[in-house]
Amino acid sequence: MKKIAIFTEKGGVGKTILSVNTSHALSKTNRKTLLVDLDGQNNSARNFGYTKERIKERKSFYELTDRRNPAKLSEVIYNVRENLDIMFNRKMYQINREITGESQLHKYLFKMFNGIEELGYHNMIIDCGPSESNINTAILSYVDYIIVPVELETFSMEGVSDTFDYLVDIDVDPRKIVMFVPNKLDLRQTEMKEYLEKLQALGEKYNIKVSKPVHSRTIIKKRHQRI
Ligand SMILES: Nc1ncnc2c1ncn2[C@@H]1O[C@H](COP(=O)(O)OP(=O)(O)OP(=O)(O)O)[C@@H](O)[C@H]1O
Ligand SMILES: [Mg+2]
Repeated sequence: MKKIAIFTEKGGVGKTILSVNTSHALSKTNRKTLLVDLDGQNNSARNFGYTKERIKERKSFYELTDRRNPAKLSEVIYNVRENLDIMFNRKMYQINREITGESQLHKYLFKMFNGIEELGYHNMIIDCGPSESNINTAILSYVDYIIVPVELETFSMEGVSDTFDYLVDIDVDPRKIVMFVPNKLDLRQTEMKEYLEKLQALGEKYNIKVSKPVHSRTIIKKRHQRI
């Protein structure tokens, strides 16, 4: 099973939309995929029709973390469609507060997801929240690969170098970053071309693939805003 985090420190640049689309695309090519939503906003889960109310009623990642009576993995995974399952979360602030200490953070998800390799998934995609947090440190230590969405503007470009620094700080190999996905490209904005070239140069320097840019499309925004 390949474990992939969709992460950048910057908020609102397309982590969730990329997690949802990548999981959907993988499932369509017969790869059994588990999408794990570990951002407290649960926007990935909500894209698949899980409203806040439905999430509250169901077991989630939170129940896996119960020390006395942890849920089984099979109890917190839900089928969305053929080859695509999902896990969502509750009370992330509480989980974040409870996990501390570097060695615990590095081991945390190996412990929580113990046995997941036996469930037959080809891929696990983890949608992360923005910023540096204990849970993100745990995720980035756990996964094999990291995909970084990038908006072609100043703050998001800075988010890329902040992400590199963060990985070094938490003792995670930055070579886990395997792809940049330029998002929200709008060719009417000339500076975007310049940022795209900068990103491509960075990709070449560090041997990171740069995907085809995703254009800024009103239809994506509208679809996303309905949830
Ligand atoms: N290519 C695109 N074209 C138009 N709108 C987009 C595109 N990609 C993302 N968006 C919009 O940008 C907003 C942020 O996207 P998304 O929720 O995927 O980002 P995020 O990085 O997961 O945010 P957060 O850090 O809050 O989790 C959403 O409203 C989404 O609809
Ligand atoms: Mg998100």
